[in-house]
Amino acid sequence: MANTSTYKGIYAMHKYWGKKPFNEISKFIEQYSSPEETVMDCFCGSGVTLIEAVKAGRKAVGVDLNPIAIKLANVSMTAVDIDMINATFKSIKKKLQKTINSLYEMEYNGQPTMVTHTIWKNGEPIEVWYCTDRDKKKIRVGNESDIKMCNEPAIEPKWYPESIMYENSRINVGKEQKVSDLFTPRALVGLSLICDEIKHIEDEKLRAVFELTLSGTLSQASNLVFVIRRRKKNEGEPSKAEVGSWVIGYWVPEEHFEINVWNCFENRFKRILKGEQEIYDLFSEKTDDYMNAHLNLINGSATAIPIEDNSIDYVFIDPPHANRILYMEQSLMWNSWLELDSNICWDDEIIVTEAKDRKEKDTDNYNALLGGAFAEISRVLKPGKYFSLAFNCLDDDTWIDTLNLFVTHGFEIRDIVPLEYSATSVIQDNRKNALKTDFVLTFQNTENKELSKVVFKNDEIELEEDIQEILDINPEYEVYNVMNALFKKTIPEGYIYKVSKIVKMCAELMK
Ligand SMILES: C[S@@+](CC[C@H](N)C(=O)[O-])C[C@H]1O[C@@H](n2cnc3c(N)ncnc32)[C@H](O)[C@@H]1O
Repeated sequence: MANTSTYKGIYAMHKYWGKKPFNEISKFIEQYSSPEETVMDCFCGSGVTLIEAVKAGRKAVGVDLNPIAIKLANVSMTAVDIDMINATFKSIKKKLQKTINSLYEMEYNGQPTMVTHTIWKNGEPIEVWYCTDRDKKKIRVGNESDIKMCNEPAIEPKWYPESIMYENSRINVGKEQKVSDLFTPRALVGLSLICDEIKHIEDEKLRAVFELTLSGTLSQASNLVFVIRRRKKNEGEPSKAEVGSWVIGYWVPEEHFEINVWNCFENRFKRILKGEQEIYDLFSEKTDDYMNAHLNLINGSATAIPIEDNSIDYVFIDPPHANRILYMEQSLMWNSWLELDSNICWDDEIIVTEAKDRKEKDTDNYNALLGGAFAEISRVLKPGKYFSLAFNCLDDDTWIDTLNLFVTHGFEIRDIVPLEYSATSVIQDNRKNALKTDFVLTFQNTENKELSKVVFKNDEIELEEDIQEILDINPEYEVYNVMNALFKKTIPEGYIYKVSKIVKMCAELMK
């Protein structure tokens, strides 16, 4: 997994799962493409590859089925005047801050207070954090008024999404559960007022910045924020609660926070503003014509890319890994609030899911669609050019299936490198006989569409001899170098050794 500490500025504006480390991706772009050439990522997600490509003077084509991904990528590459952004925020604040805060204001001990956080446990407000004119944070036990203010807010909500989520126990979605069920009635009022205000922003680019601010606000404003309880220092001392954050899935913890919606929005805005400053610094000098010629964002499927044959110079992709992360199901909270969910083509998603009403989304469907995406890449990538795939090393079968996807579409292996992990950690992994990392496999598009599938070879003696031969010539080699050398030698001959066996044998021979 990528080290999240690398996510700053643009990359910290909005959550997206599986963001790749931008500094690593830029190395591949530099190595396999030249300025003014076209780089494509047809599973572009938040747009890391595209941003790095345009930064490096390349043209970028990005495709993703998920509308919020395309919106995020688009905003991340559109310079908007920072003064205008600040002025728009100021105007939203003037109109809404007081109104939204009034949903959290109440008298306590004879003085006016405002609730910033409520910890709910099984429907009871067990802890309420509030501020007064004098104190920033005070804590009290919740009472009947807290329940009433939360469940029967004094202001009518504006529009909010009632989209029904796919029932899926793995991500804690029950039958007929709606997106709106993830929020308290009070939070729905606050968020719907902000949503309505944003719809009235005339300038399209500015509106998109604030749409992203709203969708970035949703998770902290929802009931998905768990309570972190540190161990008590001294027995008898109450354990302090800390604010957690949304990680994955739609699990509403038994004990969860409800955070003042205005504060969530303002905090998200501060983060968005930092990203916007970086976007402005990077892209403001590029004219609209330049950006139109250098960025093509397509909200569609990698299995049907609407671009010409032989038009791409380099492809870098990081497709979904089977059932690891349910991108589209988990993005429904964002997509629905921005009204982007009505045209989603769920059938095209390359995913394996346990959702009850998506039974066809099994491994066969996943492999067939991923194969379709590879066929498209082979069609649009110029002959002789390179195609890299970020690959999460799972088991031997996944390795051979992935290699065969390449081979059967006429791609020949050129390189395998670990992504983000330092060389030392690969050695350490090797000592533990494990290879827990992301890899980037790079292949070349050849005219040879007749390459036959590869099979496993289970000959340990030959494997030992082959590895020993490689290590005799290159004693400094690490596991992935050995894998590289073995794959380059054996794939043209139609076989590979099992990765698990390569790793184990390396561990013995490199002792
Ligand atoms: C691992 S993520 C990519 C993350 C990206 N590398 C980033 O840095 O943000 C895989 C992406 O594939 C997308 N996807 C799934 N099926 C797709 C399809 N048929 N066509 C295009 N994109 C698809 C998902 O929406 C998701 O954004």
